[in-house]
Amino acid sequence: MDAVESVARAAVAEAGTRLRAAWREHKVISFKGPVDLVTETDREVEALVIGHLRRAFPAHQIVAEETASDQPDNQQPTWYLDPLDGTTNFAHGYPHFAVSLAFAEGGELRFGIVHDPVRDETFVAHRGGGASLNGAPISVSPVSDLNQALLGTGFPYDRRERTDYYLAFIRRFLQHSQDVRRAGSAALDLCHVACGRFEGFWEWKLRPWDTAAGVLIVREAGGVVTDFTGNPFSLRGEQTLASNGHVHGAMVEVLTAVLGQGRG
Ligand code: 2AM
Ligand code: CA
Repeated sequence: MDAVESVARAAVAEAGTRLRAAWREHKVISFKGPVDLVTETDREVEALVIGHLRRAFPAHQIVAEETASDQPDNQQPTWYLDPLDGTTNFAHGYPHFAVSLAFAEGGELRFGIVHDPVRDETFVAHRGGGASLNGAPISVSPVSDLNQALLGTGFPYDRRERTDYYLAFIRRFLQHSQDVRRAGSAALDLCHVACGRFEGFWEWKLRPWDTAAGVLIVREAGGVVTDFTGNPFSLRGEQTLASNGHVHGAMVEVLTAVLGQGRG
């Protein structure tokens, strides 16, 4: 195990212990926007993980959700941290959230780890080295018919303003897939594509800390990540489409058909 992995594993394990201890407690919630909330635990866990990273790698850049950072330099060694992905679930005591941490170097994702403290599941991927769940190799599902696919999605923070537009995508996928789930943690949605629980996942307006680790985990498990039209995925883009690869073309067809109807 290299230093990146051992430091990341130790930081994420400690974060998980903190989240597991706190999720049933009453939360002090503050709002970043009308639907965008944050708890004291988000900030505590972020500080805890950043402490581990700064002690081990003082020169590395850290892009973390709750800490304002300047425009990151993509060529620098960079960590992407979401201390608590699924904050709304956590704040309501709904047991589905994770800590997500990725490391990139030379503009490429090298390592990703997502830890689900409630299920005690840890997803890990190394670039070129495959993906694992609690140490056992994982791979995407073999299902190739979209009608038999279980899909994940999420609604972005402007869902109150653009409700009908986002529902148009759900409507069409309800007609063309087995079913759709909206569980509230993009990092876990991606990991669930990677280990074959979901065949696909689409979401708008995610941020680099939501997706960085999960995207590498999906790819290393044999899956595909692009934008909604099948073009290359960007950590700073507006669209995330991840799948087992086999249903990717069919998902792109559905997404582009709805995109073609206009912006609602
Ligand atoms: P969070 O819990 O860390 O905020 C839910 O559909 C997904 O969207 C979660 O991964 C959630 O991450 C993310 N999300 C919620 N609000 C967001 C925002 N304002 N910007 C980007 N991602 C957001
Ligand atoms: Ca978060």
